[in-house]
Formats: sequence, C-alpha cells, structure tokens
Amino acid sequence: MSDTLVYVLGALVAAAAGLWAWRRHHPASFWYGVGFPARAVWVYLTWSHVAGGCKLTRRRRAWRLTLDALPVVGPAARSAASVVEYKRRMRRVDIDRAPRLGLIRPTPIGWRLPVRLHDGQIPADYAAVAERLAHAWRVHAVRVLETRPGRLVLVATRTDPLAEVAAVAESADLLTVRPGRLEDGRAWVMDLRTVPHWMIVGATQSGKSNLANAIIAGLSPQPVALVGFDLKGGVEFTPYAPRLSALGTTRTECVALLSDLVAELENRMALCRAHGARNVWTLPESVRPVPVVLLVDEVAELFLMADRTEKDEVTRTGVALLRVAQLGRAFAVHLIVCGQRIGSDLGPGVTALRSQLSGRVCHRVNDPETATMALGDLDPDALDAARVIAAETPGVCVVAGQDGSWHRARSAYLPEQAAEHAATTYAHLTPPWEQVTSTTTPAALPDRPSWTGEQAA
Ligand SMILES: Nc1ncnc2c1ncn2[C@@H]1O[C@H](COP(=O)(O)OP(=O)(O)OP(=O)(O)O)[C@@H](O)[C@H]1O
Ligand SMILES: [Mg+2]
Repeated sequence: MSDTLVYVLGALVAAAAGLWAWRRHHPASFWYGVGFPARAVWVYLTWSHVAGGCKLTRRRRAWRLTLDALPVVGPAARSAASVVEYKRRMRRVDIDRAPRLGLIRPTPIGWRLPVRLHDGQIPADYAAVAERLAHAWRVHAVRVLETRPGRLVLVATRTDPLAEVAAVAESADLLTVRPGRLEDGRAWVMDLRTVPHWMIVGATQSGKSNLANAIIAGLSPQPVALVGFDLKGGVEFTPYAPRLSALGTTRTECVALLSDLVAELENRMALCRAHGARNVWTLPESVRPVPVVLLVDEVAELFLMADRTEKDEVTRTGVALLRVAQLGRAFAVHLIVCGQRIGSDLGPGVTALRSQLSGRVCHRVNDPETATMALGDLDPDALDAARVIAAETPGVCVVAGQDGSWHRARSAYLPEQAAEHAATTYAHLTPPWEQVTSTTTPAALPDRPSWTGEQAA
C-alpha cells in the first residue's frame, strides 16, 4: 500500500516538474497544449456566473424540475405540524440566462470567444463591462469586436502584447510596411495603396521619429523613391541619406523639392491622360512612374515664421503640400507627416491638409484636444486609449485607418544601426531625384492638353 502511494506521489511530482519545465522552456506550445484548454473549460463553466456579475444576463421563464416542500396530510401531520414531504415537480420558474457562447479559439496571447447577443443588447453593453470581464477572466484586457448583427467576439489578451514588440517580418507587397504590432498580436500593416497619406502625432519623445524610421526601413527594399524633410537640421533622416532620393533640411530646400514634386504630379497627370488611364496603377508597367513616399518630420517647422518676410515661403509650402496630398493618391505620391500638433494654429491650409491625411496615428499626447484632432470623431474609447498612453512606453499609439476601426499598436524599436544598415544595403535601389521628377509623355502618343490641378481635385 505504501509502495503504491510512493509511486503515485512520484508520478505526480514528475508530472508537475514536466509541466513546469514545458511551460518554462516552450511557453507557446504549453499554452496551446495545456493552458488554453484549461482556460477554455473554466471560461465555459463560469460563464453564467460571470455574465450575471457583469449584468449581461436576461431574466426568462423556463421549465425546470423543482423540489417542492408539501405539508404531510394525515395523522402524522396532526401530531407534528412541521413534517413536510419533498416532491419533484416540473414548473415554470424565473431564471437568469447568460448570452449564448460560440466556439472559443486560442490566439498566441489569449483567446477569441464569439457571443450571441440577447435581444435588446448592443456591443456597447459589452464594451462597457470589458474591464469587469478582464478581471473575472484574470487577463490583461478584453476587447469587443463586432462581427455581424447580433454577434460579437470577445478578444481576451493575457499579457500586454505591446509591453515589448520585436521587429515584424516585412511584407512583400509594394508600398506596404509592417512597422510593429497591434494589440491583438497581429502585425500592424500600413498599406499606402489603401490609405495613401498618414498623419503621425505625439508629444516629444513619444516615438514619432522611430515610427518614421521603421517606415523608411520597411520601404527601403522596395522599388520606391523616398524623400525626407527633416527640419531638425537633418538629425533624424541624414543616416538614411543613401536610400533617400532627396533630403530637405531647410525650408528653402523643402519648398524647392515640393515644387519639383508638384511639377512631377502634372507630368504624371499628362502621362495618364495620354494613355487614357485614371491613375498610374492602370498604366502599362513599362511606362509606370516610380512611387514616391515623402516623409515630413516635425511639420510645424515648415510653417514657423520668424518674421513677415517668410510669410510668402510658408504660404507656398502649405499650398504645395496640400496639392501633393490632394493629387498624390492617383499618381503614386504618398505623404507621411509627423508632428506634435497638426492644427489650424500652424497656419492657413493646415486643416485642409489634415483632412487629406486619412491614416491617423496618435502617440502619447499632452492634451486631450490633440488626441481629438488626430483621431477625429472616432469612438470615444479610442480617445481614452490615446490619453492613457504612458510616457514609459514610447512607440505605443492608437492607429485609425479608413474604415473607422481603431487599434492600439506599438512600433518595433529600430536601433539606429539597423536603420542605417537597411539604408546602405538598399542604396543601389535609390532612384536619382532628376529621374524621379522627369516623367515624360511618349512622343508617339497624341499630345493632349495637360490636366490642371482643379480638374483633378
Ligand atoms: N517603439 C518603441 N519601442 C521602444 N522604445 C522606443 C520606441 N519608439 C521610440 N522609443 C524610444 O523613445 C525615444 C524617443 O523616440 P522618438 O525620437 O521616436 O520620439 P519623437 O516623438 O520623435 O520625439 P521628438 O519629438 O523629440 O522628436 C527613442 O530614443 C527611443 O529610445
Ligand atoms: Mg522626432
């Protein structure tokens, strides 16, 4: 008997040690093999309790087998009035019914649980209790994703996936970069062909330049022309000079480059018109001009005026940037503008420019107005998420795309050497600026009058 006990205890200790070692040395497979199945069982078993605690249940009448106490009739009852007999009976009773759950699925950092809404419920009811659910499930956060009417998915994440973000494998698609990760663990994909222009805001040291650098590094291996405007004396973008077709470090240089770019946009319009194409992507590949991505760090510097003599230059800069933003989409010229604030206080035309920058990234900000300015009238939860980004987590941001959805995300930290290495490795792909800005309409094609900006806009 005592031998058996020793064997059982030994087996238990060995199993516990094995599980501990498995978890320690291969946490990913431990999660799928042991952690997730255990959590899934626990989530299903406790759901009615958790839903009740979060006030997500509905009161319904249902048939239940009840145990009713009946007074016993006859002589025994007369002598002892308290004697009762219990009888099982089917009857309709009030019950709290939890929303029906779908099939729980694991993710690398948590799980996704489909839920069918009760009549009268909306996803906002679940979003309002997301924090309660997170505590009940002992996880870092729960987010609510709408899937289709009457259904939603609760996405639970066990740890903050943005606490540490490693570089993400780059995409092979043209004009697509993956600068970091989203909160749900997926890669953050920035596709300039879907969302052509981006605005990146954030307080000082919030990670704007790191993101701009990650974008440059991601685009470096692709057949695109990169242009940098860095009015902080070039400190941010100079290391990437080998991969930049042009770099502006003073306003005068930037204005000259912008006017080249506006002239090039007109060339591209003429080319598209000559070929009967609506945009450069429908042109034959042999004549398609190279895509241009213009990154502007600290855009406020472009609009700052020391005195009235600079007013003209500032106005020209604003107008040229706005034209590039308005016309760039069809002609493969993309704008990525970084700044601490991109508001009307910078100068005339900035509000119009901002409305053209449909991709939005909001890092930590100092005041709620900047978050509102960056994220517009998105879900108030997005604004709250942006306001609570901590200073200790530079690079964490709220990203909004075109479809109205938003995500918390973090860019991967890009050490200077890595970015420089990418720039020098792909330096041979850098098209010279003269070549980028010299698109011509082939002489064989009928010469039609070129477009004007007003027509295209
Ligand atoms: N994604 C990230 N992960 C980890 N650290 C980061 C990340 N992004 C930025 N940092 C750190 O934060 C510091 C500030 O980042 P960055 O220079 O990009 O901020 P910024 O918003 O451009 O600031 P400024 O307005 O002063 O130019 C960097 O030196 C870097 O160490
Ligand atoms: Mg910066």
